[in-house]
Amino acid sequence: MKRRTLLKGGLAALALVGANYTGLSLLGKPGFIDTARADGFTAPLPIPPLLEDLDSRSDSARFIMNAQQGSMDFFPGKPTATLGYNGNFLGPTIRVRNGQRFRVDVNNTLPEVTTLHWHGLHVPAQWDGGPRQPISAGTTWNPDFTIKQEAATLWYHPHAMGLTGEQVYQGLAGFFLIEDEVSDSLDIPKIYGEDDIPLVIQDRRFFSNGQFAYAQNMHDILNGVIGNYLLVNGAMQPRLSVHSGLVRLRLLNGSNSSIYRIGFKDQRTFQVIASDGGFLEQPVAMNSIVLSAGERAEVVIDLSDVELGNQIILTVEQMKGSLFEAMRITVDRPAETTGRLPDHLRTLDKIPESEADGIRGFTMETMSMGGGRMGMGMMGRRLTINGKKMDINRTDEQVRLNSTEIWEITNQGAMMMSMPHSMHLHDVQFQVLSRNGQPPPLHERGRKDTVLIMPGETVRIISRFRDYTGVYMYHCHLLEHEDDGMMGQFEVIS
Ligand code: C2O
Ligand code: CU
Ligand code: CU
Repeated sequence: MKRRTLLKGGLAALALVGANYTGLSLLGKPGFIDTARADGFTAPLPIPPLLEDLDSRSDSARFIMNAQQGSMDFFPGKPTATLGYNGNFLGPTIRVRNGQRFRVDVNNTLPEVTTLHWHGLHVPAQWDGGPRQPISAGTTWNPDFTIKQEAATLWYHPHAMGLTGEQVYQGLAGFFLIEDEVSDSLDIPKIYGEDDIPLVIQDRRFFSNGQFAYAQNMHDILNGVIGNYLLVNGAMQPRLSVHSGLVRLRLLNGSNSSIYRIGFKDQRTFQVIASDGGFLEQPVAMNSIVLSAGERAEVVIDLSDVELGNQIILTVEQMKGSLFEAMRITVDRPAETTGRLPDHLRTLDKIPESEADGIRGFTMETMSMGGGRMGMGMMGRRLTINGKKMDINRTDEQVRLNSTEIWEITNQGAMMMSMPHSMHLHDVQFQVLSRNGQPPPLHERGRKDTVLIMPGETVRIISRFRDYTGVYMYHCHLLEHEDDGMMGQFEVIS
């Protein structure tokens, strides 16, 4: 795999123990695979199939999902044990419409407990699929609810207590797309798999025997498990052929803990049309976009300047690691239409700050130095929110149904003990009010459910808590942090 190490200003602060994970001593463990592959850009990009809707009525949809064990040949002759939904690795794309009744049978054929969480979905608490809804080995879970949400690129993944990171790492994740009248009527690329391409970007680390090298030690938990191989839809350096003109990419940072800067090798400008929770008001021109673990963005690229037969390269830079040539996009036929992106995508129902019924503060701490005696106490607690670690028997916050709240989230920076965190709320799609007192960048002004918070930063978000009561999670979406307890529960009460 082509990669080079980058030295970036400010990144020193992120390195808790140093960025060179390959230098770890792993007594009794095989070493990591760290060799270049010569066969880049030969494998076609896998497009996750659209999951068959078993309900013939248009106002309802029913699906079957099997969490299962599998195997992948990432390296010739060294099959990797994997997990997938209805397949070996990752899962099919679920596509539903706003207003549809949604039913699914989730069969857990794994030898251990799992859950299935609909990330970004406004969903009744009992069907959220978080740690409170375990699906034990060999059993089936049957969510049944109505989609009450505008068009968006969401995703699904397991969320069992303490097991999220490892199960996602092994392959459990997929896209969950909502469509509505707005997405129907917008003149944007929308042929799934043709010019509307879902791209889940993840990195992985492997042992020399071909198996995934998931978290090995405290360093991996604090820094997150950062991989030296990049996968796009489960393939290393795949290639994709598309028509000329406009092509839409639905980007998902599906990695466990990496923060990615995504762009193109030729630095070309693209238009961001949607954030986590749906369309922006107007396209935002950028030439790279940062997505933390769990975040999504829909972007439209214009390939009309690329000659037939030529290609561009999608690049992905890890915040404290490598720059990958992630995928090659070749133009193999003329555009079917002379598309031009609309200037106005939709009118956003903005949540005015004045609507807030109250403000809550959240402090995310990588490491607190507080109050200790020598030894363990010196280090204080690590990976906490408001000084606490997740306790499924404790409700941390109570929120009134039909209220609107501002949450002020601070990533408490501390010299040499700082990490970026990625705050995610279940149930709601929020709006970012400010970053360090400044208005958020244009591409963060739509609806979001996950937001990157750098050390020392304070991000203020506003959310409406509507429709459903019950207990939901908020947590860091760096999955190693989440599993270590950087998570809390809020209860919406009537
Ligand atoms: Cu993407 Cu609580 O999850
Ligand atoms: Cu979620
Ligand atoms: Cu974190």
